[in-house]
Amino acid sequence: MSESIAHPEFGESTLVLGIETSCDETAAALVMGGYDVVSSVVSTQVEIHAEFGGVVPEVASRAHLEVLNPVIARSIVEAGVEDSRIDAIACTVGPGLVGALLVGVSAAKSLALVYDVPFIGVNHMEAHLYAASLEDPTLEFPLVVLLVSGGHTMLVEMQDHGRYRLLGQTIDDAAGEAFDKVARFLDLGYPGGPAIDEAALLGDPEAVRFPRALLDGSYNFSFSGLKTSVMNYVRKHPDVSSADVAASFQAAVVDVLVTKARAAAKEVGATSIVLGGGVAANSLLREEILDGCVKDGIQGFLPSRAMCTDNAAMIAAAGWHRLRSDGPTPLDVGATPNLRLPFLNV
Ligand code: KG4
Ligand code: ZN
Repeated sequence: MSESIAHPEFGESTLVLGIETSCDETAAALVMGGYDVVSSVVSTQVEIHAEFGGVVPEVASRAHLEVLNPVIARSIVEAGVEDSRIDAIACTVGPGLVGALLVGVSAAKSLALVYDVPFIGVNHMEAHLYAASLEDPTLEFPLVVLLVSGGHTMLVEMQDHGRYRLLGQTIDDAAGEAFDKVARFLDLGYPGGPAIDEAALLGDPEAVRFPRALLDGSYNFSFSGLKTSVMNYVRKHPDVSSADVAASFQAAVVDVLVTKARAAAKEVGATSIVLGGGVAANSLLREEILDGCVKDGIQGFLPSRAMCTDNAAMIAAAGWHRLRSDGPTPLDVGATPNLRLPFLNV
């Protein structure tokens, strides 16, 4: 199967400015021809939200408003191009926090009008699917993408550009959310994923055998029972070491993620398993996915941490593909907080 290109006028020399403001990262990037990242600037709000123990939507919108213009300006300066060279503006229109999305979408539409270039509304989740191919354009379809972030946990079969099948998703907490909640319970700090990852280095992953919700016969995930089980265990054993609990919890999450991703890849005949989302930075997950792929004779591709987490290069890349297949997005398309991916099967 090959990409359907209805708009070949947008090609290898088309320079897309990507803008991302869906959650707590303000980002802008310039990408040429869908794959060549010319510049990529990310300003994170993690420290601003840390004192609240999670992302506060209104605070996020205000912070985007303050830094978006300088972030865009820096992405253009770092690229070393005149702004008149920009051929299209791609921006996340959803899913995400409505106030945060509105900041990026308003800026993107204004710039599209000022420069008289196409506006491209991008689905943030589709952009995550494109992140890996930005770092390795030789990845071949079909791919199985394990997308694990603070807000999402999904297994997706990427059959081709724009052709996705949802294999499974979480029925309760996202994987990153589980890391964050367990870390908060253990007083390990925010964001919880890196804190648990670090604490686990000093712990025994076999100290406590926490339950693995394998939901037999399905590629769906559930992490809320595991979180409750960790809390119950610690309440019953107040002297247990946090490092052992962190390591045992992490082992349970990773076990489920890797088991399902490998089974999915086998079923669809995938050439590779690709990771995406903030949890893809987890050291045990990275190690176990690679080990599993070697055993299964397929490729395991681990994008860099910068490409796994929210960034605007992936927005520009996904926007370039959308521009070629669908053309410019009408300016009356706005921020859509619950935007879904156009899956073939749901
Ligand atoms: O993709 P991301 O940066 O933001 C969104 O959720 O959109 O993901 C953030 C999530 C947080 O829940 C964070 O705790 C988790 O990714 N995370 C990790 C690690 N680094 C970040 N989880 C496990 N291990 C890590 N090393
Ligand atoms: Zn994201």
